Amino acid sequence: MTFSRVLTGGSLLALASRCFAVPVVSEATTTFTSIPTATPSQVPNTNVTSHGPYTGTPTTTGALSTDVLAPSVAPLPAEEFKFEYPADGKLHAPEPAPYTPAGGLGTNGTLPVYRPISDFDYESLALALYQEWIELDLFHWGLAKFSVQDFEDAGLTAEDRSLLEFMADQEVGHATLLTNILGAEAPVQCTYNYPVNTVREYIDFCQKLTRFGESGVYGFLNHLDSRESAQLLLQSISTEARQQMIFRQFEGLFPMPVWFEIGIPQSWAWTLLAPYISSCPADQTRLIWQNMPSLNILNQPNPARIDGSDVWNETTGGYTNTLSTEDIKPNEDCLNSNVTGENCSPAITHNRTNPLSYPGRQVFLSWDEPGQAVGPNNSYVSSTSACAPLYAAWVSQLNVTYTPLQNISGNTAFTIQPNMSTFQGDPAVNGTIFLALTDMEVPVTPFNLTMINPHVVALGMYQAG
Ligand SMILES: *[C@@H]1O[C@H](CO)[C@@H](O)[C@H](O)[C@H]1NC(C)=O
Ligand SMILES: *[C@@H]1O[C@H](CO)[C@@H](O)[C@H](O)[C@H]1NC(C)=O
Ligand SMILES: *[C@@H]1O[C@H](CO)[C@@H](O)[C@H](O)[C@H]1NC(C)=O
Ligand SMILES: *[C@@H]1O[C@H](CO)[C@@H](O)[C@H](O)[C@H]1NC(C)=O
Ligand SMILES: *[C@@H]1O[C@H](CO)[C@@H](O)[C@H](O)[C@H]1NC(C)=O
Ligand SMILES: *[C@@H]1O[C@H](CO)[C@@H](O)[C@H](O)[C@H]1NC(C)=O
Ligand SMILES: *[C@@H]1O[C@H](CO)[C@@H](O)[C@H](O)[C@H]1NC(C)=O
Ligand SMILES: *[C@@H]1O[C@H](CO)[C@@H](O)[C@H](O)[C@H]1NC(C)=O
Ligand SMILES: *[C@@H]1O[C@H](CO)[C@@H](O)[C@H](O)[C@H]1NC(C)=O
Ligand SMILES: *[C@@H]1O[C@H](CO)[C@@H](O)[C@H](O)[C@H]1NC(C)=O
Ligand SMILES: *[C@@H]1O[C@H](CO)[C@@H](O)[C@H](O)[C@H]1NC(C)=O
Repeated sequence: MTFSRVLTGGSLLALASRCFAVPVVSEATTTFTSIPTATPSQVPNTNVTSHGPYTGTPTTTGALSTDVLAPSVAPLPAEEFKFEYPADGKLHAPEPAPYTPAGGLGTNGTLPVYRPISDFDYESLALALYQEWIELDLFHWGLAKFSVQDFEDAGLTAEDRSLLEFMADQEVGHATLLTNILGAEAPVQCTYNYPVNTVREYIDFCQKLTRFGESGVYGFLNHLDSRESAQLLLQSISTEARQQMIFRQFEGLFPMPVWFEIGIPQSWAWTLLAPYISSCPADQTRLIWQNMPSLNILNQPNPARIDGSDVWNETTGGYTNTLSTEDIKPNEDCLNSNVTGENCSPAITHNRTNPLSYPGRQVFLSWDEPGQAVGPNNSYVSSTSACAPLYAAWVSQLNVTYTPLQNISGNTAFTIQPNMSTFQGDPAVNGTIFLALTDMEVPVTPFNLTMINPHVVALGMYQAG
């Protein structure tokens, strides 16, 4: 009170002159003791020593399930009350307290409870924990697997490697947080199998893995029953979003070529994550989510090339469709160019003279049949409830747009990259996006994207920019 009166009473100049006599302490002269507060311990974790595919026989198969009430969730009309609030900038109810507008969830003084309160919450948070665990391992693994020289050859310095190590440490925190929320049966660390042989393949894989990790959480965050858990998860996924952008910068890409980041359904995140888990401990908590068949982008743009869209069959496999450096000739490699617009060494940002993809680009696709063993201990089975594929669904920013599949022959077809903008000046298809094959054009928007799932035939990631 007194302080604010001083500020309004005198001019800033008067305040400054009154302060003039006060000795200015610009340096701390004494170090006082600062007793640390109690620090919560980390969840048990190890630097996983074994990597590679699973070769055993699964002792259990299929996603976790219980009684299933219907083949899909039926659409319902919007709730009328949501149209009633006038939204005119005026107040329409008494204030519960000063400076406190009426409404909101979890704002009435009840104590927060940071735990799942439904199957939806538990399964979503457990999925997020599987994701944090793979990131923890992946970031450490890269540092252990590749030599200093390998990193230097890709333009990544000792300081960059420290940043990578710090990102791994962040994952310990995220895994600890989610384990504490979930309780005793929380999924634990597994062993993994990564589709990479070089540092640049590794960075591309990290960039794509953090993309579906981040987008996977955005897809369910606002549907969680436990608002309290959502709050904590939001604060961890914001960190993950930064990691994704840093991997783009490590890769020499434009850091954020979109105005909005995508949210995807949980089953999409699980579909893209599970193939890289080789095995989990016997009593591991299993998940409910669907594993969809892989969509392979035959001319997936390759960011390691000067002309990244002029490419054929240059990925290290389906699902994430990450880049392969194997067949790139030195004069085609963007690391070797020092021309602005071509050079792709790690940087805050780069322009690309030759865009990785563009509207009107012909995109060649092939897809796997369902019924394949996938995920930890090969104990999940890929499935689809859709009919034959007819469309490619481009899921980017706030939009889902369908383009027809053409020349469908067996499990191959092509389609044309659509020309659309989210808002004027923001081409929708850019960055690392999601491409799904569907049997119909399901109208969906960010909050009901999951309604597309019964119509998805196959799923992959597309490197649009
Ligand atoms: C894992 O390895 C990193 C070095 O890459 C080290 O800093 C960290 O302490 C190790 N973690 C564990 C749990 O051993
Ligand atoms: C407080 O708000 C919650 C919803 O956020 C509601 O479920 C609960 O009944 C409210 N409690 C009281 C005492 O009004
Ligand atoms: C999965 O494989 C691991 C390693 O072989 C094994 O320890 C574990 O018991 C297996 N889990 C299941 C559910 O079969
Ligand atoms: C892509 O290349 C792999 C080998 O690298 C080969 O097995 C596969 O048949 C090729 N696919 C196409 C569609 O060219
Ligand atoms: C690019 O590299 C060439 C040969 O390596 C050199 O002659 C040229 O000066 C370099 N240009 C720039 C802008 O650094
Ligand atoms: C980079 O791209 C932007 C937008 O396309 C363009 O305005 C800018 O001039 C480019 N900068 C350089 C240095 O090429
Ligand atoms: C994607 O974004 C980059 C960076 O702003 C831009 O140069 C490129 O033209 C965009 N691509 C498309 C297809 O709009
Ligand atoms: C995309 O749409 C814009 C605006 O309608 C148009 O100028 C441009 O030529 C279109 N691009 C292609 C490849 O059709
Ligand atoms: C599509 O199929 C038609 C008829 O078989 C063929 O003439 C055409 O070349 C095909 N187009 C592409 C791009 O493969
Ligand atoms: C993309 O999403 C925005 C925001 O919801 C919407 O206004 C726009 O119409 C959508 N554009 C297309 C082509 O679907
Ligand atoms: C999803 O929501 C949009 C409105 O945002 C609606 O037009 C569409 O029909 C809904 N889709 C389904 C499958 O319910």
